[in-house]
Amino acid sequence: MSSHRLDGRGSTLLLLQRGTGLPEIVHWGARLPDGLELDLAALRDRAVRHNGLDEDHVEAVLMPTLGTGTLRTPALVASRGGIDWTADFTDVTVRAAAGALHVIAHDPVAALSLEIVLTLPEDGDLLTMRSTLRNAGDAPLQVERLAAGVFLLPAGADELLVFDGRWGREFTERRVSLASGTWASENRRGRSHDRFPGVIAGNAGFDEDRGLVHGVHLGWSGNHRTLAERLEDGRVLVVTGEWLHPGEVVLAPGESLHTPVAYAAVSADGLSGLSRRFHDGVRSGVLRWPDGAMRPRPVTLNTWEGNYFTHEHDRLVAQATAAAQVGIERFVLDDGWMAGRRDARAGLGDWRPDPLKYPDGLGPLVDAVTGLGLEFGLWVEPEMVNPDSDLYRAHPDAVLHVAGRPLRTSRHQLILDLTRPEIADGIFDQLDALLRAHPITYLKWDMNRDFVAAGDQDGRPAYRRHLLADYALLARLRAAHPALEIETCSSGGGRPDLGILRHTHRVWTSDCTDALERLAIQRGFSRFLPPELMGAHVAASPNHQTGRRHTLGFRAAVALFGHMGVELDPTTLSDDERSVLAGWIALHKRLRRLLHASEHAASPMQAGRSLRGVVAPDRRQGAFLVAQERTDAHRAPPLLLPGLDPAFTYRLRAPSPQHLDVKLSASQRLLFTEGLVLSGALLGRAGIALPEMQPETALVLELDALD
Ligand code: GLA
Repeated sequence: MSSHRLDGRGSTLLLLQRGTGLPEIVHWGARLPDGLELDLAALRDRAVRHNGLDEDHVEAVLMPTLGTGTLRTPALVASRGGIDWTADFTDVTVRAAAGALHVIAHDPVAALSLEIVLTLPEDGDLLTMRSTLRNAGDAPLQVERLAAGVFLLPAGADELLVFDGRWGREFTERRVSLASGTWASENRRGRSHDRFPGVIAGNAGFDEDRGLVHGVHLGWSGNHRTLAERLEDGRVLVVTGEWLHPGEVVLAPGESLHTPVAYAAVSADGLSGLSRRFHDGVRSGVLRWPDGAMRPRPVTLNTWEGNYFTHEHDRLVAQATAAAQVGIERFVLDDGWMAGRRDARAGLGDWRPDPLKYPDGLGPLVDAVTGLGLEFGLWVEPEMVNPDSDLYRAHPDAVLHVAGRPLRTSRHQLILDLTRPEIADGIFDQLDALLRAHPITYLKWDMNRDFVAAGDQDGRPAYRRHLLADYALLARLRAAHPALEIETCSSGGGRPDLGILRHTHRVWTSDCTDALERLAIQRGFSRFLPPELMGAHVAASPNHQTGRRHTLGFRAAVALFGHMGVELDPTTLSDDERSVLAGWIALHKRLRRLLHASEHAASPMQAGRSLRGVVAPDRRQGAFLVAQERTDAHRAPPLLLPGLDPAFTYRLRAPSPQHLDVKLSASQRLLFTEGLVLSGALLGRAGIALPEMQPETALVLELDALD
């Protein structure tokens, strides 16, 4: 019997291996001391005996299979035409490398090889797991399921925080209690407005600042499946991986299937602690910025809600001019610029400017925009084609479909079969030509439909292969244009995962730009992803999606805490509104280094009031958003600010251009002028009484440690 361990900053994964079997997960949680003498014999007695079986077996192995005797959902299901269906890896070696364990396993009976790689950086707490299955036999192997990640949670993990939603309401949080049995979430539409590939589980009643919580996320933008399953002894296995269509993966002899990466973290200090661990791990281990480092995220004007498909050169230049005047730094030309794109019915696939809207090409607009000192960004939807397009007319067979069945359009579009190299090459060439012709520093990469009956030329399901080809296309464009930044969008936040974020730099969080809705959407987003990736725009009032009216101050305060942008026609703003917006943009620019590189801090909702923000790693600075989301039977209690150093003295201010339309006491008035000087201990433990706030208003608070 042997043990293997991985240690992060505050967490340990401990595995126990009996003989040459697949390792069992013994502990994933708080860091164990170095040099711990492990009493392996005492750890051994964890196996269970199911009724009717004469031998013990272990449920919490790294890859539960039918061959290990599991009566739970197997994490690997494969067969050769119904034979070799009980995988059991009996010849397993575990190799340790810096911050990683490689588990190399063979099943000589079913002729399978499995490699599992686990990583946990010593200066972080984001655990990763991925697996590779190789067909070592001499007949094709049909794979139904192969988990990317298997994570063990202690008994007591009785409550799940799951992420539901729909278009315009991504990351909707819902609490589910996990009794015995299984909770499952499956996504088959190739994107995930309604099923973000992540789940959080913890002791009942966990909240922002309390409880032992575990978070698991699959870095994959395609179909996926996550289970939380109670074991016989009350512990819980969370298993996540791709959801595969029948026949989607058939491995020829010698071929391998590589899963996406599953990410996981554990926090003893509630959801905020979990976010901190995820944000830190994403920043250091997933994102790849041009030149290796994130530069300040440019404030963006995105033209969609201000123009939709109506593109007029003079109007766009006037908008860019007004944008530059309020301090905007990047102009992103959204949908509507391509040949024939009057509406959603035509133009996808023909990535050249519409000759009517842009008779001299994109050059004049790009020149005007860059001449104002703004960067130029462009919307594209490279995976798609409208039947009404030159590309489709020339290559009607280029789309994913099942021969003999009707073509299923959605938003009048079909999905290009990117698994065919000549089709991916053609799209690459079109985009590459645009990027070479113009100083375009940013692409908004959209994907606006579900995948339905997505078969390739041979009639086989092509879902995962299409996505891998899409990732490869993104990687190829980035290699050819190293300074390019890319936003992942899918009708808003349909593709916000760490699979695509290895190739992109920002998420269009949601097509819903209503600030009140955004508070909930952005809260869910922040569980796993850091704020610099969260596209957050100030939109028009009344809002285009909900019709709600909000003050500019509320809209801007909510956008301030992400990667801030503007999603309206700035020429329609009054002079007064422009100067207020300019004030908010200046505030964002002043705070963005803090906002985008700090530690997440939040409190539970109290009396309809939410509090979220950031504190610098050295605790000397902080910024918080206090949002009165609704009214309540109680007045809001004194506000406690989390994450501060109790030994520091801070200046607390509500920086301009804010004001509140309510009665203020003398000291509350000071908040808006020179600020209040208060100890971190007082702010964190006794709290301060804020002004009464009307529903759907917000206040930004800034903290600086004195001396
Ligand atoms: C999607 C995006 C929007 C916009 C439109 C353009 O819905 O989420 O932001 O780009 O497409 O058609």
